[in-house]
Amino acid sequence: MNQIFPGVWKQKNKILTKNIVPGFRSFTEETLKIKGEEYRVWDPSRSKACAAIAKGLKGFPLRQGMKILYLGIANGYTSSFFSDIIGSEGIIYGVEISERSIRDLNPVAEKRGNIVPVLANARRPEDYRWIEQVDIVYQDVATNDQSEILIRNCNAFLKPSGFAMIAIKSRSIDVTKNPRQIYTQEEKKLSRVFKILDKKELDPFEKDHMFFLLKIKQL
Ligand SMILES: C[S@@+](CC[C@H](N)C(=O)[O-])C[C@H]1O[C@@H](n2cnc3c(N)ncnc32)[C@H](O)[C@@H]1O
Repeated sequence: MNQIFPGVWKQKNKILTKNIVPGFRSFTEETLKIKGEEYRVWDPSRSKACAAIAKGLKGFPLRQGMKILYLGIANGYTSSFFSDIIGSEGIIYGVEISERSIRDLNPVAEKRGNIVPVLANARRPEDYRWIEQVDIVYQDVATNDQSEILIRNCNAFLKPSGFAMIAIKSRSIDVTKNPRQIYTQEEKKLSRVFKILDKKELDPFEKDHMFFLLKIKQL
């Protein structure tokens, strides 16, 4: 087993995190016992962050104890692995617009103890301004204004030393355009605010998606 990033391992072709709640499966994920510890298998076809790692993303900025603002947390599949990586000292504020998804997320959040579900519209950060400053903003809300939503939330909540990650879904922005054209257009918007540390197309795990790893530009 190789450690590929802090809190993330690879064994054969499987990407793993160490379960912070051993014995509890947040979803139907496979678990492995290695040297007495329980690891969870992270599926790149269910998670864009995992797909980006599987495609060879150069860095993955999550560290133990970090605070994360997660936009579009849904039922919490990806964030359950983030929750393993940051550990019980860290915290994830998970913004989600769908009540149904929040209902599915609640038992996972309760069991894990480091995920705070927030029923809100990520276009309106003023509605959840009680959230503290965070180390990472993660954006997986597939709308036609994805980059703008990320930038607005980073302006409100990201520490000056912070990182951001976004999975751009070209079909949500404009189905009539070639995905590469969309990626270039969105990269231009993002690079006004962020340094682009790396980017990866997510196929074959996710069609027509580009994942960006970003760092706030210092003025
Ligand atoms: C692709 S899914 C997220 C999957 C999740 N990130 C994962 O990997 O486990 C996108 C989610 O964004 C939510 N969403 C869409 N528009 C939103 C908005 N304006 N504010 C907050 N959430 C939104 C949807 O309800 C959906 O659950």
